[in-house]
Amino acid sequence: AGAEKGGYPDFMLKEIHEQPRVIRDTLAGRLVDGRLVIDELDLSPEELTLIDRVYVIACGTSLHAGLVAKQLIEGWARIPCEVEAASEFRYRNALITPTTLVVAVSQSGETADTLAAIRDARVRGARVFGITNVVGSPVAREADGVIYTKANKEIAVASTKSFLGQIVSLTLLALLLAQVKGNLRQNQIHLLYKQLASTAEQVECILQDTSRIQQAAQRCYQASSALFIGRGMGCVIAREGALKLKEISYLHAEAYPAGEMKHGPIALIEDGFPVIAVATHGPIYDKVMSNIQESKARGACVIALAEQGDEEIQKYADEVIYIPPVQDCFSAITASVPLQLLAREIALLKHCDVDQPRNLAKSVTVE
Ligand code: G6P
Repeated sequence: AGAEKGGYPDFMLKEIHEQPRVIRDTLAGRLVDGRLVIDELDLSPEELTLIDRVYVIACGTSLHAGLVAKQLIEGWARIPCEVEAASEFRYRNALITPTTLVVAVSQSGETADTLAAIRDARVRGARVFGITNVVGSPVAREADGVIYTKANKEIAVASTKSFLGQIVSLTLLALLLAQVKGNLRQNQIHLLYKQLASTAEQVECILQDTSRIQQAAQRCYQASSALFIGRGMGCVIAREGALKLKEISYLHAEAYPAGEMKHGPIALIEDGFPVIAVATHGPIYDKVMSNIQESKARGACVIALAEQGDEEIQKYADEVIYIPPVQDCFSAITASVPLQLLAREIALLKHCDVDQPRNLAKSVTVE
């Protein structure tokens, strides 16, 4: 087993460290003569141009990759995009027409709810793309086209490297939709692709020094609950951070849009209550900063995820986890990594089995 783990103490850490490779492999060969190419999608450019609504359906961590996709598909391709838990989508009468694209995201490619949602969508006339990590899996077979995330086999129950592979794949899909719709110029797409590729080095850099993450874990592992906050892309990052923490450390965590704190969760804050704030330089960074100050004023122990060079934030946060400066549209790729590591450190401090958390299964093939 030691050899399988490649010298790492657990599969989760091994898989977290594989992420730069996953980014590179998932991107490989996608830019040909300056144009984005996804041949596996069984739709002509003309058919793609007609798409006027996108649903991303998935479960668990894959659903969070969908929330990233929503921001990019709406932002770049200007197509309305909804993200929905497959278990909900399959039982409601979603607005599907022949120009609706359903994107099913599933690491295993065999999650029962996601498969049922695919079948339902196809019966009702949608075009369905799959994004999966498992070649020949049911999702791959039943979709009209499939993009494979190049994560390779993921063993730890809590998904890490597949999540990054999914975000990269969905980012490519968003760029492709923007390309066919003519919403982004070719040179813009080229530039974005290069910036996307450079997230691999940024993740490598994050993995090199995890001392601040360990310090942050020390501060919160004895808490009974934690609040993750962020805005925009930061809110999505917060959601996945909270899920990872719940899954493997059993510490109750909730993610909230930082601007909504005042409508409820702020009541939870008392002395020492951990608030993990995603404070990368998104368009409303200043607002996140004021939410951090509001938390601090009520006694929270603030752990901020910020970009290198942001000294100011040290005034308000008890711990700062720094990541390399990144563009907002790609921040979920980099900023999710320290939160994976934070969840793992907290789980280890609580003596939990990080690879096989209680009550959870790697793939859920029954409803
Ligand atoms: C299970 C796993 C999660 C995963 C979810 C969806 O709950 O424990 O890590 O995100 O299923 O799985 P899928 O294979 O469809 O992505």
